[in-house]
Amino acid sequence: MPDTLVEWSDDFLVGNAQIDEQHRELVRITNDFWAGCQTGGIIAKVSFLNTIQGAVHYMKTHFAAEEAIMQRAGYPGYGDHKKQHENFVAEVLRQANRFEEEDNPNPGKFSEFLMDWIVGHIARSDKQYIPFIAGLEG
Ligand SMILES: [Fe+2]
Repeated sequence: MPDTLVEWSDDFLVGNAQIDEQHRELVRITNDFWAGCQTGGIIAKVSFLNTIQGAVHYMKTHFAAEEAIMQRAGYPGYGDHKKQHENFVAEVLRQANRFEEEDNPNPGKFSEFLMDWIVGHIARSDKQYIPFIAGLEG
């Protein structure tokens, strides 16, 4: 079993120091999540419930920062991109609630869902605003 679900790669960089650091943190959070789930059973469930609120809070903070930068840059895909963030947060909360009620939840699967979305979103959606935010500070 590897120690991490995914390794940070500089392929994820979008060229904005704040956003790149937040993306690094999202990868870290997801790996921590995943590591906490490896024990299985009730310990994994407790670990999950203890960390999910903080993770959601961090995601929201990050999305708000990213949206502010896209807006400042006049990025034309802003509306669609914001919608993707909103749908994701809603889905995370929905899964978290369901998870809480399950007797035999599978937190490892949830970590994989987080990682797939984050990595896929950076590669497919965040990369598209790079030319627009280039040169913006903060
Ligand atoms: Fe994004």
